[in-house]
Amino acid sequence: MNRYTFGDDDRAAARLRLLAETYEVVTRDLLARGGVPGCGLAADLGCGGGWSTRLLRDVLRPVRTVGLDASERFVAEARRRHGPGLEFEVHDVTRAPFPAGTPELLLCRFLLTHLPDTGAVLGAWAAAAAPGARLLVHETESLRAEHPSLARYYALVARLQEHYGQVLEVGASLEAAFAASAWRVTDSRTVAREIPAPRMAELHLANLRTWREDEYAQRTFDRAELDGLERALERIAAGAEPAGTVRNAVRQIVAGRRS
Ligand SMILES: C[S@@+](CC[C@H](N)C(=O)[O-])C[C@H]1O[C@@H](n2cnc3c(N)ncnc32)[C@H](O)[C@@H]1O
Repeated sequence: MNRYTFGDDDRAAARLRLLAETYEVVTRDLLARGGVPGCGLAADLGCGGGWSTRLLRDVLRPVRTVGLDASERFVAEARRRHGPGLEFEVHDVTRAPFPAGTPELLLCRFLLTHLPDTGAVLGAWAAAAAPGARLLVHETESLRAEHPSLARYYALVARLQEHYGQVLEVGASLEAAFAASAWRVTDSRTVAREIPAPRMAELHLANLRTWREDEYAQRTFDRAELDGLERALERIAAGAEPAGTVRNAVRQIVAGRRS
C-alpha cells in the first residue's frame, strides 16, 4: 500500500479537523453542485476522522454513507465521533471492490495527492462504483506563500512527497488523468482563495512535526533548518510574525462513470 506521510496519531487527527473547517464551505459547494441528493450508497474515500463523510451526509442525505480509510486509528476515531448514523470501514481504496457495497456517489478530498498512480486509482474507483456513478474530487492545485518560511515548507514537503511518488499539487494534472480514464468530466474548475497565513501555518506545523521523523526526511533534510522552520511556523501560527496570506487554488472535478 502507499505511504501516508502525515501520520494518524492524535496530532494528525486534530489537524484533519482544522483542515475540514478550513475547506468546509468550498466542499459544501462541490457537493451541492455535483452530488445527487438522496442517492443510495455514498462513499467518502480516505475519510480520515470522518469530517468530510459527515459533511457529505449532511448535504446530500444519501440512504447510506460510508467512510473508507486505510488507517485503523482514523476509522476508530471516526466511529467514536460520528456515531451510528455513518458507517466507517478500514480499506485501502486503491483496491476494488469496496467492502461496504457499490457506491453511486464517491467523494475524494485531499487523497489523490497521497496516491502514486492517479490513472490506476481512477480505474479502481470505476471498477468499484455503480454504473452511472458520480465522482467528486477536491485536490490542491497550487500553494503560493508570501512568507519565505511557508514557501520553503511547500518546497520541502513537495520533495518528500515526490520521493514517495506523490504530487503535492496533484490538482494541476487531474484533467489529463481524467481524460485517459473511465470517468467523463462534467464540471472542472479552479477554486482560488487567499487563506490567512496563521491558519495555514497551524495546519503545516502539525504535519512538519510528523514528517520530519520520516526516514527519507531525516536522511535528506538539514535538521537545523527544520528546527528553524518549525519555530518560524510556530510564530506565524501564533500571530507573532506577520506573514500575510497563502494563495491556494484547489481543483474541483465532477465526473460520471462511463458505461
Ligand atoms: C489528508 S487526509 C483527508 C481526510 C478527509 N478526506 C478530509 O478531507 O477531511 C488523507 C486520508 O487518506 C487516507 N489514505 C491515504 N492512503 C489511503 C489509501 N490507499 N486507502 C484509504 N485511505 C487512504 C489517510 O489515512 C488519511 O486519512
